[in-house]
Amino acid sequence: MDRGQTMTTLFTNRSSFHTWRKSIPEHRTVGFVPTMGALHAGHVSLIEQAKAECDVVVVSIYVNALQFNSETDFTRYPRTEETDFHICTLANVDAVFAPLKSDVFPEDVVELLTPSKNAQGYEGADRPGHFAGVVTVVDRLFNLVQPSVAYFGLKDYQQVAVINDMASQLHPNIVISPCITMRENDGLAMSSRNRFLTPSGRKSATALPSALGKAVSSWNTGVTQSKELIDQVIADLSKEPSIDIQYISVVRNGSMEPVQAISENDVIIAAIVVDGVRLIDNMSFTNA
Ligand code: PAF
Repeated sequence: MDRGQTMTTLFTNRSSFHTWRKSIPEHRTVGFVPTMGALHAGHVSLIEQAKAECDVVVVSIYVNALQFNSETDFTRYPRTEETDFHICTLANVDAVFAPLKSDVFPEDVVELLTPSKNAQGYEGADRPGHFAGVVTVVDRLFNLVQPSVAYFGLKDYQQVAVINDMASQLHPNIVISPCITMRENDGLAMSSRNRFLTPSGRKSATALPSALGKAVSSWNTGVTQSKELIDQVIADLSKEPSIDIQYISVVRNGSMEPVQAISENDVIIAAIVVDGVRLIDNMSFTNA
């Protein structure tokens, strides 16, 4: 083994993981990257941040049925365990925790947590029950992994806001670290859903980051009213007939509260459907 290379251990059940977790001395910090697998460079950047900041890094891989809106979506979610484990090995992850449903939810009937009001609207409106499923599984994973810091991608902006609220209530000692969105060369935000796009849909999808980027540039040149920028994004996206806009909004940084007059760090959020694939993205207004 090269100097500095970590041996990655795969834990596929709660009790072996628990034994390993108990062996980590209390003074060592544990960085946690919860995932549903289908890992891509976006996840790797979260892992790298965790590696840079923590003594030990855990990645969980668990496809959480509770956060899917349909059985079909759950079934068609990509499962790429071997590649995922390989990616974690290359990224020097210490432990990959891939529990079974019975490890995370041993009970017959799962009582869902109620997410904060940041779960209302947007993804929450378009995917009823989604955030209840997310906070319920993340709470369970936090209890199992007991991390010092947990890393989440800001591409899922609303998810980060909702998890932040849950963690500050139920896990005040865990630091939630939001991480910047990784993008493909043409600007498309990395997502495990991108693989479902047809070549032409993949091309059309780049209109989303491009329209959001233009909105941020317009703000930089003095357009401050969100309505004007939203109209501009709608006009840009409408040039792509295959894009079906779900929502576009400007919200205050860290929350889902809509804003009219935009100030620095506010965030423009959007969801579209291309080729039947739902894509979300967001950008922060920052001075160029
Ligand atoms: O972002 C995800 O992949 C999931 O929502 C998460 C946070 C791992 C919970 O299942």
